[in-house]
Amino acid sequence: MESSAGYLPLREALCRLYSQRQTHVNPTQVQITSGCQHAMEHALRVVCRPGDNVAVPTPAFPGYLALLGQLNLNAVEIPMTPAGPDYESLKAVMHSGEIAALIINPVCHNPTGVTISDDYKRDIAQWANNLKIPVIEDDICATLNFSEAFPRPVISYDTDGWCMLVSSISKIVGDSERLGWCLPGRFRDAYMTQVAISQISGPYFRQKALANYLNGSRYASQLRNWRGQMKAFLNDASEYLSAELGSAIEITSPSGGYALWIRLPDYVDVTEVRRQAGEQGCDFLPGEVFSLAPRFKQYIRLVLIPPQDERYEKALKKLTGILKPLLTKAKPQPAAGSVTAAAAHQGGCQASWLVFAGGGVGVQLNILAHKNNHIAFLGADL
Ligand SMILES: Cc1ncc(COP(=O)(O)O)c(C=O)c1O
Repeated sequence: MESSAGYLPLREALCRLYSQRQTHVNPTQVQITSGCQHAMEHALRVVCRPGDNVAVPTPAFPGYLALLGQLNLNAVEIPMTPAGPDYESLKAVMHSGEIAALIINPVCHNPTGVTISDDYKRDIAQWANNLKIPVIEDDICATLNFSEAFPRPVISYDTDGWCMLVSSISKIVGDSERLGWCLPGRFRDAYMTQVAISQISGPYFRQKALANYLNGSRYASQLRNWRGQMKAFLNDASEYLSAELGSAIEITSPSGGYALWIRLPDYVDVTEVRRQAGEQGCDFLPGEVFSLAPRFKQYIRLVLIPPQDERYEKALKKLTGILKPLLTKAKPQPAAGSVTAAAAHQGGCQASWLVFAGGGVGVQLNILAHKNNHIAFLGADL
């Protein structure tokens, strides 16, 4: 199992880094994988069976939705709020007896950039342990947090091993190296056996190079520098877009990472914006790929990766050039008695994503029709 778990000095280096985040594991509790998506796939394979329901806050990284579709698992979408997944909805789903696992991306959530509070993280870990529901925590963006160098993960509050953590170097070194890991908690033996069968062993030279980098003197300062560049870039881009486009657009203020999650008014056709952007050599991910339902049709996710050079300056100019005429078009008046999508959105429509039958104790969860739904995997720039 030793070699298939991964290069020992790399697993030791990861344990040292997690101990800075109050997460104490030893190398025998770490599995090296081919990236975070691979680590997530095996976590789902270990804790779920085809047809199971998996709770996932949305908007969500589209790779989760693609995986759930491929593994024949049903996504139960929990609305994201500025404080994280809607607390009451998540609590109700965890207590519903209907889900096999929860996927959570608690620090610098992709795409909203939200980081949840430590109290909330503690609650999630407690629900996982009390209710015996595996929580799969995606920690990939945690090192990109602007305000806290060492944010605690949910797994740091785990008591009985019901939390698993998956992550990778894709956001700090690049996604072409395909190196990730999993802290599989109580599922260690099943997880490690499964990965051993699937990949036999990991790439020796890449693991060794990464171990040397993580143990070396430059890692911490480069990361600090990288975070500073990302923060400045997102701030500048956000200010530029707000100044150019005004209050018609809503931009989240991310706690870290490299993406802006932007809401365009209902009367703007995002497909048309993307078409015109494509003609000018720019692209963004449309909000619709972040959910299985058409909830985020008015959103776009812009990825801004340092260095903040003139390529980006030009691209942002092109985008505002496309949006300005569309935003100044007269806003259509809603017919009397009808409810606009925006009004429905603000009026608590988000919380109604989960359909409950009955009420009070023993509430029954009617899973929305996500069975057999599939979302195409969109490539590496997710
Ligand atoms: C939130 C999140 N999780 C997982 C992944 C997949 O990471 P990897 O390239 O390590 O497989 C990504 C990639 O962009 C991501 O944004």
